[in-house]
Amino acid sequence: MQGMNAPSNLKHEGLKQWVQEIAALTKPDNIRWADGSKEEYDELCQLMVDSGTFIRLNPEKRPNSYLCRSDPKDVARVEDRTYICSRHKQDAGPTNNWMDPDEMKATLNKLFDGCMQGRTMYVIPFSMGPIGSPIAHIGVEITDSPYVVVNMDIMTRVGTKVLDVLGSDGDFVPCVHTVGKPLKPGEKDVAWPCNETKYIVHYPEEHAIWSFGSGYGGNALLGKKCFALRIASTMAREEGWMAEHMLILGVEPPGGEKSYVAAAFPSACGKTNFAMLIPPKAFDGYKVTTVGDDIAWIKPGPDGELRAINPEAGYFGVAPGTSYDSNPNAMETIKENSIFTNVALTEDGDVWWEEMTKEPPKKLIDWRGNEWTPDSGTPAAHPNARFTTPARQCPSIDPAWEDPKGVKIDAFIFGGRRSKTIPLVVQSTNWINGVYMATTMGSEKTAAAAGGLGEVRRDPFAMLPFAGYHMGDYVDHWLNMGQNVPEPPPIFSVNWFRKGEDGKFIWPGFGENMRVLKWIVDRAKGKAEAVESPLGYMPPYEALEWAGLDNFSREDYDEVTSLGRADWEKELLSHVELFMQLNDRLPKEMAAMREVILSSLWRWPERWHLRR
Ligand code: OXD
Ligand code: MN
Repeated sequence: MQGMNAPSNLKHEGLKQWVQEIAALTKPDNIRWADGSKEEYDELCQLMVDSGTFIRLNPEKRPNSYLCRSDPKDVARVEDRTYICSRHKQDAGPTNNWMDPDEMKATLNKLFDGCMQGRTMYVIPFSMGPIGSPIAHIGVEITDSPYVVVNMDIMTRVGTKVLDVLGSDGDFVPCVHTVGKPLKPGEKDVAWPCNETKYIVHYPEEHAIWSFGSGYGGNALLGKKCFALRIASTMAREEGWMAEHMLILGVEPPGGEKSYVAAAFPSACGKTNFAMLIPPKAFDGYKVTTVGDDIAWIKPGPDGELRAINPEAGYFGVAPGTSYDSNPNAMETIKENSIFTNVALTEDGDVWWEEMTKEPPKKLIDWRGNEWTPDSGTPAAHPNARFTTPARQCPSIDPAWEDPKGVKIDAFIFGGRRSKTIPLVVQSTNWINGVYMATTMGSEKTAAAAGGLGEVRRDPFAMLPFAGYHMGDYVDHWLNMGQNVPEPPPIFSVNWFRKGEDGKFIWPGFGENMRVLKWIVDRAKGKAEAVESPLGYMPPYEALEWAGLDNFSREDYDEVTSLGRADWEKELLSHVELFMQLNDRLPKEMAAMREVILSSLWRWPERWHLRR
């Protein structure tokens, strides 16, 4: 192995030593420090074009962009291979996989021994959040995948400036990643190296991450789910802040005061679309702006308000379903300088995926590299195909998205995909009631393959796969946060997905969600009307703007806001299942809150309507 090749501004002995240790274990051919420069990005992309990992897209259609096809067995996050290795099993909680940290280290040490042979080891110093922001934190990812380096370049702030902020003794989260495919001397590499064996491991007490065997998304880009959610949620609990699976958006009425909301949705609920929403015509002059589409780090500010940053610098969005109809801002963002993974290739060297256009192209090369026609009977793009694209290219990017102080959060929103039961929107009666809504939120499974199509998966705070510790303690931390800030923002629950008897969505969704969003931000400012319901406060019909929304009647509104007693009895009964699971750590307020809602249901009509 050659030397460390460390940059001249590296002053951190601890970091140097750690890199040496990992190099001694993994035995790469050489070490290269990522500097985050355009030259480096271009060089590594070219390297991957030459090696067959990347295909350069037609520069006229998609300037400076690439297509990448993964191994068909390495296409998504692997939740069943993801571990929280706390000292005590109970601290990881019943919803996380756990293994004793010493045992896990012994397993991983064997797997990592020599795992980078024949490859370059890249060292990526990165900042989650604007470099130097009091809300930001630093990580260093070691990887043997150039694909990871260029994706991290887009998704985080990489480079030498990070080392300056780190100084000689700053804190960083060490992240070690390997594709797990060493090369023997002379052995030819494959386009997407990976290993059948996969481990995505977190040591919450040490704030450390080790990932083996996958090159894809959240398994490999360790700044995202592993650091910014699992490890950061642990740090946040220790230090009194919040790391959330939330988008952040701004709403600015013409001539009025701007608000920001943070909103949590499980995967596959149109989170990126909501973050980049374009208001309908009736909202002329309103601006909706994007701070983040996936993750929010929120800390109490100097005046006790909650201030949020998007720790990421790019979007790693699901491509299928994204179109000029569903999300024009995303389509504009990905026009150039983007990486597309597992989408289809068009005859003229551009990309395509399901629903991008109404008519599919007549001929494509699908995500596996095979010829495809609309009659093929298989999807052209993998359902979890992704684009990696710089946030700064988003037309709706908020002017304050890189403000180191963060933006002040005026409301929290929680939503899931529920065809029944959950109303369009409801404001919690108080913080504890809002925490109850967030704890019990759930989403219906969308893929028939998952077994119970339509079955509700409880996903507290949309954090089930992402909390770095016991979910009961997580709820407790939320209760504490509400207590510790002078005026915690109001909490809302939304559901865009109620279906009618005919099985069709009743609410039109997409840009029309602005109608609900406006009520939420007005409510947060004490400026909108509300009616008390069995669950909390709801907007009467007159409180929403309806101009320009044809095909949605007052009866439809009554339908999406109605609450059935029998549905709610069933719903509240099923919350017990979750509570039993979290029993050893769940704050008792949750059971009490459930009892209050349940015991008063009989006082309300059997089918409660806003219009009685
Ligand atoms: C994501 C997810 O990829 O939540 O953002 O699964
Ligand atoms: Mn997500």
